[in-house]
Amino acid sequence: MNLKSPVVAAAPILELIDIHKSYRGGDGKPIHAARSVSFKVDRGETVALIGESGSGKSTLGRIALGLIKPDSGRVIFNGHSLTEISAAQLRAIRIGMQPIFQDPAASFNPRRNVRAILTQALLAINADDHERRCISLLEDVGLRPGREFLQRYPHELSGGQRQRLAIARALAVDPILVVADEPLSGADVSIRGQVMNLLVDLQEKRNLCYLMITHDISIARAMARRVVVLKDGQVVEAGSAADVLDSPQHPYTKRLVASVPVLALPRGAVATG
Ligand SMILES: Nc1ncnc2c1ncn2[C@@H]1O[C@H](COP(=O)(O)OP(=O)(O)O)[C@@H](O)[C@H]1O
Ligand SMILES: [Mg+2]
Repeated sequence: MNLKSPVVAAAPILELIDIHKSYRGGDGKPIHAARSVSFKVDRGETVALIGESGSGKSTLGRIALGLIKPDSGRVIFNGHSLTEISAAQLRAIRIGMQPIFQDPAASFNPRRNVRAILTQALLAINADDHERRCISLLEDVGLRPGREFLQRYPHELSGGQRQRLAIARALAVDPILVVADEPLSGADVSIRGQVMNLLVDLQEKRNLCYLMITHDISIARAMARRVVVLKDGQVVEAGSAADVLDSPQHPYTKRLVASVPVLALPRGAVATG
C-alpha cells in the first residue's frame, strides 16, 4: 500500500461556472450584469469580489446564494448544483450559505427583538435550547449576552451592534459559507476595523469561507486570499490577493487600486479600533 498517496485537492465549496445574467434596462436594451463569469471559493478561504458600483457584484452574490437564477451557467455549492434542483431542495441546501448585507437595519423586522431575531434563525435548523444558543451567539460576536440585551429592538442598537447581530443571525444556522455584500460600507471607520477583526476571528474558529463583495480595495487587501475583479459584468483579472492588488495587470484594476486612500491597510493586517 502506498502510504504517500497524493493529497487529493478538496472540491471547492462554491463554484460559479460560466454565469450569464442580463436585465432589461429602462430603454428596453439589455444590461449585462454578468457575462461568462466563473470563479470558486475553497474551504476556509476568503475570496473578494471587487469592482466599481454597477459592475455586477451584488448580482453575482445573489446568484451564488440561489436568490436569483442566472440566464445560463451553473452554481455548485458544497457538491450540489443549485441551478438543477427543486425549490424545496434549494431551500434546504441554502441554509449552508448565509448572507450579510450592507444595511443591517433594513434586513431586520423592526417588530422583532434580538431574542426573536435569533430564535427565528435557529428554528430554520430545528435547534433546541434557544435561550442558551442565543446567549452563546451573542458572546461569539462580542455582544452583551444578558437578558436585557435579548429584549432590545433593532432601533435600540448602535450601527456596530446591529452589524454584529446580523453576523450572529447568519451564524445561527452554522453555515459553511458567508456571502457578505459590502458588510462594512455602512459602518463608521472606528467600527469597520472591529467588525473586520470579528469576521476574521470567526472564520478561524468556525472554518468559514467568505465571499466578500466590496468596492473597497483596503478590505479586500486586509481579508482576502484571492481576488476576482469585475468590470461591466466580466472578470477582467483574478488571482491571489498579493498578485492582483500589488501588481495589477489590467488598467481597470490599476485604477481601482490607485483610488485607495493612503490609509490603506497592509494585506493580512486587520486594523483594530
Ligand atoms: N433587478 C434589476 N433590474 C434591472 N437592472 C438591474 C437589477 N439589478 C441590477 N441591475 C443592473 O445590473 C448591473 C449590475 O448591478 P449590481 O449587481 O447591483 O452591481 P454592483 O453590486 O457591482 O454595484 C447594474 O447596471 C444595475 O443597474
Ligand atoms: Mg452592490
